Amino acid sequence: MLKQTLHHRRQKLATLINFPVILWSGNTNPRNFPANVYPFRASSHFLYFAGLPLPNAAIRLEAGKLELFIDNPTPSSALWHGEMPTRDEIAEQIGADTARPMAELESSLEGVATIPVQNAATWTQQTQLLNRWVLPQQPPQENDLELAQAIISLRLTHDADALIELRKAAAVTVEAHKAGIAATSQAQREAEVRAAMEAVIIGENMTTSYNSIVTVHGEVLHNEQYHHPLQPGDLILADVGAETAMGWAADVTRTWPVSGKFSSTQRDIYDVVLAAHDACIAKISPGVEYEDIHLLAATVIAEGLVDLGILQGNPADLVEMDAHALFFPHGIGHLLGLDVHDMEDLGDLAGYEEGRNRSSRFGLGYLRLNRPLRPGMLVTIEPGFYQVPAILNDPNVRSKYENVVNWQRLAEFADVRGIRIEDDVLVTDSGSEVLTDALPSQAIAIETSPK
Ligand code: GLY
Ligand code: MN
Ligand code: MN
Repeated sequence: MLKQTLHHRRQKLATLINFPVILWSGNTNPRNFPANVYPFRASSHFLYFAGLPLPNAAIRLEAGKLELFIDNPTPSSALWHGEMPTRDEIAEQIGADTARPMAELESSLEGVATIPVQNAATWTQQTQLLNRWVLPQQPPQENDLELAQAIISLRLTHDADALIELRKAAAVTVEAHKAGIAATSQAQREAEVRAAMEAVIIGENMTTSYNSIVTVHGEVLHNEQYHHPLQPGDLILADVGAETAMGWAADVTRTWPVSGKFSSTQRDIYDVVLAAHDACIAKISPGVEYEDIHLLAATVIAEGLVDLGILQGNPADLVEMDAHALFFPHGIGHLLGLDVHDMEDLGDLAGYEEGRNRSSRFGLGYLRLNRPLRPGMLVTIEPGFYQVPAILNDPNVRSKYENVVNWQRLAEFADVRGIRIEDDVLVTDSGSEVLTDALPSQAIAIETSPK
């Protein structure tokens, strides 16, 4: 990240608030004993202003000035982890005005606002040092709330340097999906397809931005099992995204047939999901309400299912009664940036425009973003169709929707467990740009992509 960009972000924050801020990066998390740790992921708010994934560091921001708190590497860390940059070298790299040891943080806390980090050891430390509750589960209060709102207003739209990183993550993700499709004909199990996809990401010195979903059981929305064998009639749903070394994410899903060719029932449903995907992307433009894009997806899916004889009735009425959600139970997408669900550590503060709250409707309650779109926002568009036993076998659901679902007709689509098509879409001044459109989504292009 350019020093100048980090400086500019800090200056912009200074125009929005008039109190000091401390942002902690977080610590490493032990896996099973202290020296064996999970891969470190710095807090996204810290990364946004400091630009480097530094463990066990903090930054104090006041009136555009940056004070870095971090300890110099110890001789034993040089033995085990190699030579690391000194505090002063890091300070120079990120454009800090001053740099001090972590122990001096304690004397710089007067009147500061903060954001709780996800790492439990660090938020305990935040709570102790600030002598007030700082818990990720609690909505922020007073200056912490004002700080969260100020940071949201900056991070909602992406600057040029962020977009460079986001495009890198998108490009590598596209290649990972191509590798997954190509690896399928030789693979026996889901795990082998996952390995081929993640190999591309790891080979670019990136990580995955969330746990990969690579499954023949696409009806399990966040399936994290990879042991199932691949059978010729199966569809593979792969939701895999790369994250750059500086923390910027991509989030892409494709669904393809193990045999290389969709069955006619799979193709019919695939084309319904694709029609929703394409219609939503075509509608993305500044000023458009994201909720309307979700409702557009719901309507296109309802229309498609009526055409196939699975649903019965008028599509608008079906959406009104949430019948689309029997098969498309999640939202059309979310914000994307440093987090795959960007700023969801702040609950719905980022995703929902002030004064708006989650709907209690089955067909709207899982919508993660409810704001008018603005140029520079990056969102996902990810319609899907799933046959989730927990929904479709629920006696209350079956009786409520008895007359709108043709259950006999639905049974003919038993080889479609789950389909999702997900792309990353930047809102531009005049419409949108799909950052991941180098990855085909048409059924025929998927069938003919290199194997
Ligand atoms: N990969 C998680 C999601 O699509 O939201
Ligand atoms: Mn997503
Ligand atoms: Mn996804």
